[in-house]
Amino acid sequence: MSKLVSENISTLRPYEPGKPIDELERELGISNSIKLASNENPLGPSPKAVEAMQSLLAEAHMYPDGAAFRLREAVSKKFDIPMNEIITGNGSNELLTLAARTFACPGENAVISDYGFVAYKIVLTAANVPFTSVPVQPGFEQDLNALAAACDQNTKLLFLANPNNPTGTYVGRKALENFLKEVPPHVIVVLDEAYVEYADADDYTSGLELRGLRERLLVFRTFSKCYGLGGMRVGFGVGPTELIDYMNRIREPFNVNILAQAAGAAALFDQDFVERTVKANAESMVLFKRALEDMELKYTPSQTNFLLVEMPEADKPLGGAVYQAMLRHGVITRPMAGYGLPNHLRITLGTPAQMERCVGALKAALEEVQ
Ligand SMILES: Cc1ncc(COP(=O)(O)O)c(C=O)c1O
Repeated sequence: MSKLVSENISTLRPYEPGKPIDELERELGISNSIKLASNENPLGPSPKAVEAMQSLLAEAHMYPDGAAFRLREAVSKKFDIPMNEIITGNGSNELLTLAARTFACPGENAVISDYGFVAYKIVLTAANVPFTSVPVQPGFEQDLNALAAACDQNTKLLFLANPNNPTGTYVGRKALENFLKEVPPHVIVVLDEAYVEYADADDYTSGLELRGLRERLLVFRTFSKCYGLGGMRVGFGVGPTELIDYMNRIREPFNVNILAQAAGAAALFDQDFVERTVKANAESMVLFKRALEDMELKYTPSQTNFLLVEMPEADKPLGGAVYQAMLRHGVITRPMAGYGLPNHLRITLGTPAQMERCVGALKAALEEVQ
């Protein structure tokens, strides 16, 4: 009999999401757990988005607008971008998949960074696109020169998250400008800006401002983080009409549901909520960093809503054991062994009360495992 699936599918390691609260509580018979594992917004969803969704519940029998006109119109207004340069996705994850499936022709390859977002490897493998992963510099800094140099004449895609998940690192304006000019013109650079709203470094610049520097540039954004809409699955991408048009050809016709479209359009203009979110995040960042320093734990400076935290040195990596012990204390974090960092945890910044609980659980867990 012929093979059931091709090798890229049989060897594919699927995405491992953060553990859901309900699953933990079912497994351990506990309650009042908190989840700091998926970089969700601890303030909940944008209230304007909730209002917009509520007003549409009775329309659930209607198919969504397949072209997501209102949502693209909102993105167009907010960022001053022509509507035909905007595509919407079932989360930005779908846009990553679409990019890999649309553009990579047989024989072509992709370039990514070590310690980049794990979905890049998954979407490329699923689309049977070979890729080169480029080492980072000390401090998990993405090596832009090496990424550009890794592109050959068959490279079609280069994925870069700025700021990056799971490290929280970022690349500044000057370096990004040089990079966008340096990467060969035949390569489509995909700049993934899932955490853009949190980035407050003076020299951070969105790719949306640098679109003039290269033709083949796609910038992806999500409503899952700062806008608090992870459960709705909605994101958008910006790029030249030609690229957007090709991605639209293989996009599912109703990929973003009616509630998600309305939620995204409303959330974009919920400036008060975005400001509250960013302020709360900055406050929790200060609190959590101070607590980690008191515990003499190292972390990577972050431009996002999470911190990559290194466990103390021991005979063997402690990340997995600390993760399990924290679960027993009702605190869900993200183990990093899958990223090749078995002595690290990635911890989302929650409310101050959640961070206090997290620090208590982390201290207890470290005592239990050492
Ligand atoms: C860097 C990065 N890109 C993309 C995504 C996908 O987000 P979504 O599909 O929810 O828009 C995530 C989610 O964690 C992320 O961290």
